[in-house]
Amino acid sequence: MKKILDLLSAEVAKAFAAAGYDEKYARVSISNRPDLCEYQCNGAMAAAKEYHKAPIMIANGVVEQLAGSEVFGEVQAVNPGFINMKINDAFLSSYLNGMEADERLGFEKAEHPKTIVIDYGGPNVAKPLHVGHLRSAIIGESVKRIARFAGHHVIGDVHLGDWGLQMGLIITELHERKPELCYFDENYDGAYPEEAPFTIAELEEIYPTASKRSKEDEPYKEAAMQATYELQHGRKGYQALLQHILNVSVTDLKRNYANLNVSFDLWKGESDAQPYIPDMVQKMKDDGFAYVSDNALVVDVKEDTDTKEVPPCMLLKSDGASLYTTTDLATIVERMKLYNPDEIIYVVDKRQEMHFIQVFRCARKCGLVTDETGLKFLGFGTMNGKDGKPFKTRDGGVMRLEYLLKDINEEMLKKIEASRPMDEEEAEKISKIVGLSAVKYGDLSNQASKDYIFDVDRFTSSEGNTGPYILYTIVRIKSILRKYEEMGGTAGDGQITASANESEKALQLELTKFNSMMETAYEESAPHKICAYIYDLANAFNKFYHETKILGSEDEAAKKSWIALLLLTRKVLETCIDLLGFEAPEKM
Ligand code: ARG
Repeated sequence: MKKILDLLSAEVAKAFAAAGYDEKYARVSISNRPDLCEYQCNGAMAAAKEYHKAPIMIANGVVEQLAGSEVFGEVQAVNPGFINMKINDAFLSSYLNGMEADERLGFEKAEHPKTIVIDYGGPNVAKPLHVGHLRSAIIGESVKRIARFAGHHVIGDVHLGDWGLQMGLIITELHERKPELCYFDENYDGAYPEEAPFTIAELEEIYPTASKRSKEDEPYKEAAMQATYELQHGRKGYQALLQHILNVSVTDLKRNYANLNVSFDLWKGESDAQPYIPDMVQKMKDDGFAYVSDNALVVDVKEDTDTKEVPPCMLLKSDGASLYTTTDLATIVERMKLYNPDEIIYVVDKRQEMHFIQVFRCARKCGLVTDETGLKFLGFGTMNGKDGKPFKTRDGGVMRLEYLLKDINEEMLKKIEASRPMDEEEAEKISKIVGLSAVKYGDLSNQASKDYIFDVDRFTSSEGNTGPYILYTIVRIKSILRKYEEMGGTAGDGQITASANESEKALQLELTKFNSMMETAYEESAPHKICAYIYDLANAFNKFYHETKILGSEDEAAKKSWIALLLLTRKVLETCIDLLGFEAPEKM
């Protein structure tokens, strides 16, 4: 379906043309004086210059042509030349009924679907997930869903951090604890027992222990570096161990992400990109882009217009070891080869921006991507505690994701249990669903690039701009619809008709904005636009609800129309929260 403002503009364009003026002046926008009108067109002011006429004369001419329009109700020319408009009631209801009949609510699929890879999540194998990874997962998941809803072919890749010193540390620590394992045998033949030689709990304990020890114990650290080197250069036993570490870790990560309603199409990682490095580097050398400077192999990526220093992109260190940058470049090579994407979007902490500037420029300069390939860095800000500093545990450590979610769910449970009597199992189930909305909405309602304060109290409140408030609104609608059916009505067999009062009209008008809001949310990869919209929509609905006796009304025709309006409101809200990555319970 066309966007409502486009339809209105087209109607006004006809009137401009009929009155003898250029259609380009006919742009309609939402009124900034809702007390006077719903829409306005200020084109007469601009046209006045071209036609050397008073704007009000032009406006009058256009208004005359709009007489009898089926799109507009009241239309008025106002000094010095504004055109103020109200929409025609029947036109508005038919637009809304059109939305209701369409499973995409009138939002059209992209005409030319793109293939988009979204790189998000970015957990590091064997290290616990912390709150920094939460933002990437939440934002990335939503951006993925939005792009998919817009009709694109979207591939979500978790891009595991599975290629660092942490692997060598784990191997070294394992060697000390279980030297008898076959993997440590110099002559290990590659036989691969199914069973991993450790559990996830052990693994999670091994890494911090090893990491701590490496900081105090130099030979231990050297052993870990040596193990990392041997792993990266093909030692079979270590590679088998890496496989086990990956399997155990990934199983656990999947469980964690499932709790967050986050899923990935690809579980690839930094290690998958390594085989692409030698050829890539060789070609960069052959093409004259990569050169040796201070013993390291680098590519210059600075540009004349830079206002801050962009250091050369370092590919290989003096000892031949590759870096984070090299891995990201090789990952681009891999992605181009396997998926040929039109665009790659990285949802990563904005403190890594310089890294991505270097990577993108290097990729373009060396021809790893085409001129058309989009490389987009969606950098997100820091999640801070109430003190405005990065979120920490009470004792100052890095906050683990699981604990943070537990905190939220406990707070939610308290509030849910206080709201009405229910059995414990139900209360727990509901608080999990609502808790997730609190975390995700609390995050997504801010523009991603901004830092924000994680405020359990505020996020879990059922009032204000919060996830629980949105869910309460949906649950309220569901409950009215349920009661309507209990009273013998059939929800879904009615049509939306002309509004009976102002708050109903306001709700109707709010619903028509879905389409253009979605377009912006996709184009700007901006879930916060969806949050802002559903907050307005929920407010409009609640105002209507408080001012209208829906089920108690004697007017059966009006009641039917209201039920249809409720159905559409619910559908829009539910579609939106699904795009944000959470859902509503039946009851709260
Ligand atoms: N594992 C990295 C980290 O924890 C994030 C990875 C981001 N993605 C990328 N392609 N570099 O910081």
